[in-house]
Amino acid sequence: AKVTFITSDNETIKTDGNSGNIMELAVKNNVNGIDGDCGGVCSCATCHVHVKPEFWEKVGEPGEMEQDMLEFDDNVSDYSRLGCQIPVTENIDGIVLNVAN
Ligand code: FES
Repeated sequence: AKVTFITSDNETIKTDGNSGNIMELAVKNNVNGIDGDCGGVCSCATCHVHVKPEFWEKVGEPGEMEQDMLEFDDNVSDYSRLGCQIPVTENIDGIVLNVAN
């Protein structure tokens, strides 16, 4: 799936992946602002992204644990997700994500 990241300093990074999750894909491609400190177990929120509204349906709502984690982040929006909780599959092909800062 093709996944585009837009960093907080407006750099556009186009990536392509077919396994793992969005956090891993971002780390692999050196996307600035996505750290994945907890290794993808939904407990650090350093993988926070804002999904472009037009792609929201492709990823859907955050899970309960994820929502609890997002509550600690000041910068949360209606389209916030944790990257490590979004699997990279063909379902999300073409998606655009803003990296939260
Ligand atoms: Fe820690 Fe996603 S990598 S919450």
